[in-house]
Amino acid sequence: MATGTEQVRLLGRSIGAEVVGVDLAELDENDFVLVHRALLDYGVIAVRDQTNLTPEAQIAFSRRLGDLEIHVAAHFLLPGHPEILQISNKKSADGAAVGFEEAGRYWHSDISYVERPAMCSLLYALEIPPSDGDTMFADMYAAYDGLDGATQKRIADLTAVHSYAASFAGETAAGANRATLTDDQKAMLPEVVHPVVRSHPETGRKALFVNPGFTTRIVGLSDDDSRSLLGALFKASVHSQNIYTHKWRRHDLVIWDNRCLMHHATPYDSSYIRHMHRTTVIGDRPV
Ligand code: SIN
Repeated sequence: MATGTEQVRLLGRSIGAEVVGVDLAELDENDFVLVHRALLDYGVIAVRDQTNLTPEAQIAFSRRLGDLEIHVAAHFLLPGHPEILQISNKKSADGAAVGFEEAGRYWHSDISYVERPAMCSLLYALEIPPSDGDTMFADMYAAYDGLDGATQKRIADLTAVHSYAASFAGETAAGANRATLTDDQKAMLPEVVHPVVRSHPETGRKALFVNPGFTTRIVGLSDDDSRSLLGALFKASVHSQNIYTHKWRRHDLVIWDNRCLMHHATPYDSSYIRHMHRTTVIGDRPV
């Protein structure tokens, strides 16, 4: 039951809040509504001090938000719990990587390369380095709102291609370290087309829905025009005033809404362990 100690506090300018005083492993309906509301209002929330969040509890809480994605990088899934993708620089006894060490070190919206991209992602910090390894989030409502009227009009009905495999070769992905996929895994991920501007299905607000990680081209434009427009939209998305940088605390469960945010993981000193469990909730087809 709700204890009355629950609090939500804005940490960034428009996005990014912390939620204290709730236990996600034993969440009643009132607190579920509070957490869900905070996610819609702030785009990304850090639920602090989740010391009891076992893999089962994280999966059970995540399922209250929707169906869960089983990530294509099967080799980094938590044994016995394929709903959890390990983001980690830990090694197993035989020296193999247990997780995806450099996941998401580029601006992206999770699995925008599938027909029903992620509604939200939930990342639980089991071990963190003493500094660095922050995660940056960009407000894609603000990115859209900040465009001039002519650009908003130009992109209103445009669509764009998103691709996991093709983005490996793209110049926007230069330097990005991706999970290596087998040919069979790549074949499971054909290109998809989404609107450049989407309407958030719960808030009704418009958000830009292109990202340097996976958006490869605008449909119907020449290569040059597509590259130039995407470059301008990416630049407009990452103005410093639109960004919230999350500094992790151990036992944070950070939830972000991929329908209106991009995110970008940052490096850290790999002599320290950074070990995270991610669940991903499947969303609607963007419209
Ligand atoms: C991701 O899910 O893109 C990784 C985020 C992070 O490790 O900070």
